[in-house]
Amino acid sequence: MLNVKDKVVYQIYPRSFMDSNGDGFGDLKGVTMKLDYLQNLGVDYLWLTPFFISPQVDNGYDVADYRRIDPKFGTMEDFEELAEEAKKRGIGLMLDMVFNHTSTEHEWFQKALAGDEGYMDYYIFKESPKDAPPTNWQSKFGGNAWKYVPALKKWYLHLFDEKQADLNWENPKVREELKEILRFWKAKGVSGFRFDVVNLISKADFENDSMGDGRSHYTDGPHVHEYLKELVGDAGIEDMITVGEMSSTSLDNCIRYSGADEHELSMVFHFQHLKVDYKNGDKWSLMAPDLGELGRFFVNWQEGMQDHNAWDALFWDNHDQPRALSRFGNEGEYWEKSAKMLAGLIHLMRGTPYIYQGDEIGMTNTHFHDIHRYRDVESKNYFEILKNNGLSEEEAIAVVDERSRDNGRTPMQWSAAANAGFSTGEPWIEVVDNFDRINAASQVEDENSIFSFYKKLISLRKSQKIISEGRISFETDLPVGAIGYTREYEGKKLCVFGNMTSEEIAVNDNGVLPAGAVLSQNDSARPDVRDAGFALRPYELVAVWG
Ligand code: GLC
Repeated sequence: MLNVKDKVVYQIYPRSFMDSNGDGFGDLKGVTMKLDYLQNLGVDYLWLTPFFISPQVDNGYDVADYRRIDPKFGTMEDFEELAEEAKKRGIGLMLDMVFNHTSTEHEWFQKALAGDEGYMDYYIFKESPKDAPPTNWQSKFGGNAWKYVPALKKWYLHLFDEKQADLNWENPKVREELKEILRFWKAKGVSGFRFDVVNLISKADFENDSMGDGRSHYTDGPHVHEYLKELVGDAGIEDMITVGEMSSTSLDNCIRYSGADEHELSMVFHFQHLKVDYKNGDKWSLMAPDLGELGRFFVNWQEGMQDHNAWDALFWDNHDQPRALSRFGNEGEYWEKSAKMLAGLIHLMRGTPYIYQGDEIGMTNTHFHDIHRYRDVESKNYFEILKNNGLSEEEAIAVVDERSRDNGRTPMQWSAAANAGFSTGEPWIEVVDNFDRINAASQVEDENSIFSFYKKLISLRKSQKIISEGRISFETDLPVGAIGYTREYEGKKLCVFGNMTSEEIAVNDNGVLPAGAVLSQNDSARPDVRDAGFALRPYELVAVWG
């Protein structure tokens, strides 16, 4: 398997990254225009979220043709140019494969709708009276997960929007089709793949869920490991970089998805750390982050994955998450410090770090406070659901402001120019109104900027094997709000501490800190950190080498 331990991936949400033609919508040419910026940052791969033909009901996660590029994003020539120019700069491309479902506009689904039985078997159609869905499962975007088709007198399953129909992976023809798509893009020279919600592909049964929303009937389902091994093996992608997005998964399954000898994926995204501010596990119920829980998550998963030679993708943000800076950091006085602390905390851990566009300059949530300014189908649905559940408009919008996926989808803030330099036209979603202060242009040359700190973290991973290869063990007796761990490699040590609060936290290191260099947000020496105990300042990150 490919060694991904010293690599760093940068995630691009193309529609919001850079618009080359002034239509307000980011495109592939826009990505090509910014390759020098990305090379300067030092990243190895770009994961591009889907740019295939799509009605864009779920911003491209509803694919209607996996081999063609949506004209909104450009042409195949634009893609080839991007791949070639990226390669010249030592950067590989990872494409996003949405294989749990297709758009209902996909040719396969259209044929199924026309009554072609072969294609109906590509999807999950079930018989049930028209007023009684086959099961009580809920769609992840709200409402029942089944849609009735009167002409067929059958229901089809959609775990996401009703325009996203779940594929039937039990049908070997479906699995063959998907392998062909991977071979197609491999032949185009891409370096790897991200697999969308790939742990949902094997449905266990189609029974009612008496306890929950149905997820226990299809999450990490009975054949998922078998299907992944087959897909990766037959498509010949084992030596490419691959990452699976795992929804509500378990540590045991992640060990298998990414275990060194399992021949499934290079690494996994899992999300427990991003649920520590869900009240009673409900994303749409607000609560301050439970930092004790966050600390326990890192101990269990980082050490648990290590014990079984499995590998993590390290990340705080992506296109489905509110900005970590707004969530776990501080947008005010400690903006810069908390952005750097959050970055350092995960970049020095065991795994492959992912940077989501804008993290490297400290972008924040939207604070739109008006449902008409949001674009995401999930946010719009839940705004209605919350009101139906009795929340006032004011209360419902406050929840959406915190939890909307659009928080991570606003245009990249390139400069203080109009539309943050993203587009000369009207952006498809508004720019956050702090772009005059928070933008790339003001940071690239400044060696104390958040951008430069990311650059340093990336180059450290490449020069220090203790970061890419070292063992990790966590300090479990720190006060809540502080996270600390030690990396060890060939007799050397690296100790890392982060303060996730705006209060000082006293740390007793028991005199074990090594005597080497110290890295903190501004590289200011912290001579006191080697005393038997020291105080972590608000949002401070301290890393000490031995
Ligand atoms: C993943 C994607 C998300 C999408 C969903 C359905 O979670 O990251 O954006 O809505 O899958 O494809």
